[in-house]
Amino acid sequence: MKIIRTVEEMQRTSQAWKREGRRVGMVPTMGYLHAGHISLVRIVKREAEACVVSIFVNPTQFGPAEDLARYPRDFERDCRLCREAGVDAVFAPEPAEMYAPDYSTWVVEEALTGPLCGERRPGHFRGVTSVVAKLFNAALPDVAVFGQKDAQQALVLQRMVRDLNFPVKMIIAPIVREADGLAMSSRNVYLSPDERLRALSISQGLDRAAAAFAGGARDTAALCADVRAGIEAAGGRVDYVEIRSRGTLAAVAAVDEPSVLAVAAFFGKTRLIDNLFLG
Ligand code: PAF
Repeated sequence: MKIIRTVEEMQRTSQAWKREGRRVGMVPTMGYLHAGHISLVRIVKREAEACVVSIFVNPTQFGPAEDLARYPRDFERDCRLCREAGVDAVFAPEPAEMYAPDYSTWVVEEALTGPLCGERRPGHFRGVTSVVAKLFNAALPDVAVFGQKDAQQALVLQRMVRDLNFPVKMIIAPIVREADGLAMSSRNVYLSPDERLRALSISQGLDRAAAAFAGGARDTAALCADVRAGIEAAGGRVDYVEIRSRGTLAAVAAVDEPSVLAVAAFFGKTRLIDNLFLG
């Protein structure tokens, strides 16, 4: 497995693979890999003959009061997991390789980034779309896989790929959960044992919503109120619980089109997100 540090070497490597007739698949990550990331690698390996995982803790998607400095990192372990999963190259640039000191060009999606995390984390999605555009220009993937856990991110990036004509097939892969239901996330390491237990109220709320929806419940306010109540009863601080259209992310009063029930909640200082596709 190659470890690649520069954009130029990444581009040359990808172009060489393509000349050999290999399709290139990419899993963009910020490292501290878990089984959720590895599930994305498995999907890439079904779709492409060469697999790149990028590991880059992207400074431009963190707000000034967010966790950039303490974001968990373990490059050796990440590389071992990638090697075991059959990854061909890890692309791990330093921030200076990605961002010149006078860097000044941004990719901004303007419709789907309004609500939810876009509203709570100003500038976050500008950082995500810009870095993913740059990662695509480095690795030149034919296919890229993103997790549904970051549902708004996945929708925004699909829109970016469509709007800017990136020749990349986008795949959104299902959420991978711990045995007890907690959605896998690199940020779960921040949770104390007690917070981790209480954080299960998120996935338990989503399970209740899925069951209610299967039983015919369609009223957005009632579905959201129940999820919110469960999180608050467990001592979580809800950032949002909302049901929105999966096409437009517009608010919906009743779930009568493909929708997403999206949750963000704090347990202690840790902000967790999770979601459920409805319909
Ligand atoms: O989902 C993530 O880990 C990041 O937002 C991404 C897509 C790798 C961009 O930095």
